[in-house]
Amino acid sequence: MEYHIKDINLADIGIKRIEWSGNFMKVLKMLSQEYKDKLNGIRISACLHVTAETANLIIALKESGASVRLCASNPLSTQDDIASALVKYYNVEVFAIRGEDNTTYYEHIYKCLEFKPHITLDDGADLTSYAHINNMTNGIVGGTEETTTGVIRLKSMQKENILRYPIIAVNDSRTKYLFDNRYGTGQSTIDGILRATNILIPGKVVVICGYGYCGKGIAMRAKGMGARVIITEIDPIRALEAFYDGYEVMPVNQAIKIADIVITATGNKNVVDKEDLLSAKDGVILANSGHFDVEINKKALYELSESYEQIRENVIQFNLKNNKRIFLLADGRLVNLVSAEGHPAEVMDMSFSNQYYSVIYILNNKLENKVYTLPYEVDMKIAELKLKSLGIQIDKLTKEQEEYLKSWREGT
Ligand code: ADE
Repeated sequence: MEYHIKDINLADIGIKRIEWSGNFMKVLKMLSQEYKDKLNGIRISACLHVTAETANLIIALKESGASVRLCASNPLSTQDDIASALVKYYNVEVFAIRGEDNTTYYEHIYKCLEFKPHITLDDGADLTSYAHINNMTNGIVGGTEETTTGVIRLKSMQKENILRYPIIAVNDSRTKYLFDNRYGTGQSTIDGILRATNILIPGKVVVICGYGYCGKGIAMRAKGMGARVIITEIDPIRALEAFYDGYEVMPVNQAIKIADIVITATGNKNVVDKEDLLSAKDGVILANSGHFDVEINKKALYELSESYEQIRENVIQFNLKNNKRIFLLADGRLVNLVSAEGHPAEVMDMSFSNQYYSVIYILNNKLENKVYTLPYEVDMKIAELKLKSLGIQIDKLTKEQEEYLKSWREGT
């Protein structure tokens, strides 16, 4: 068995955390029982955040018969105790170490592709793009993608006609983005900021860049805790949505002058750019919740600074030449996964049930080399199972109501 992890002795802590998360991932368990042995002989390579929730997905796939290799989808998000428990107690070949440099990060991706997978699971599209760039797609029959940023990259590949195997955009299932992106990112981003800084949220001016489902979730939670929330957007409809949801809306450069905390959640680069850094109020806290560490212009931050120092775990203080201080959290990487534990298991249950089902779907359908969304019925099935696991019942349409919805004759 091959693996590259930090310390095998962390396994006993990791297994307890995996089991704890497993208590909240009932849908995933129901699916893996339904499809027991359906993945016999299938090799899967996964490039995901190495968390307790991911561990439960990997275990579900293994219990269905697959052999799995796992590497990290971000150099800083790996939970070393989880990596260790997966190796020691579940015989999973894991290649991930928290804090690995870029070279090691890509060596680990290489190890996952060297495994000659039939299916790839990805979060951010680094594994899929590496496979394409390095001609390692032979034998791969399909892949999945977890996040908005990855789906955008893969759709660009589709547009350029270079996609060599079909991809299921897990992110685009409603049972994923409506819950994971909104409630998962909303809570875990605040969690990451609090663990890093231990500041009081009430009374703070919190600026959120981007009002997609992630931004919406963060705004909702910050407002609920008593912050004054400002939204920045480039999309007029989302900006209006934010305004009528009760938030102030303004450009980043204005907002940063009064911000206590700025959180980026756009998926784009240099959203907080050099000019914004120069305008920032003294003592502003900057955090990113987007997939890549490109949203805050870190290069400019270093250039504008006279000195910098790590003052707490996951907090760097930059002393700018204009005598102001800026505090950067989690090195500008995903604050929820770097300084907290990522989304809670309850929402990852639905996201990873979509991942799990996508594997079954790829194996049972003839797909073209395109980016697909899982069918409506699958989304409904996952939602129904989640409701069942929560003990929640809902109403059914009566025959009369069904007929009414189909007819057009009845009116005023
Ligand atoms: N992405 C966000 N939260 C996550 C988690 N807990 N596990 C894996 N991927 C995640």
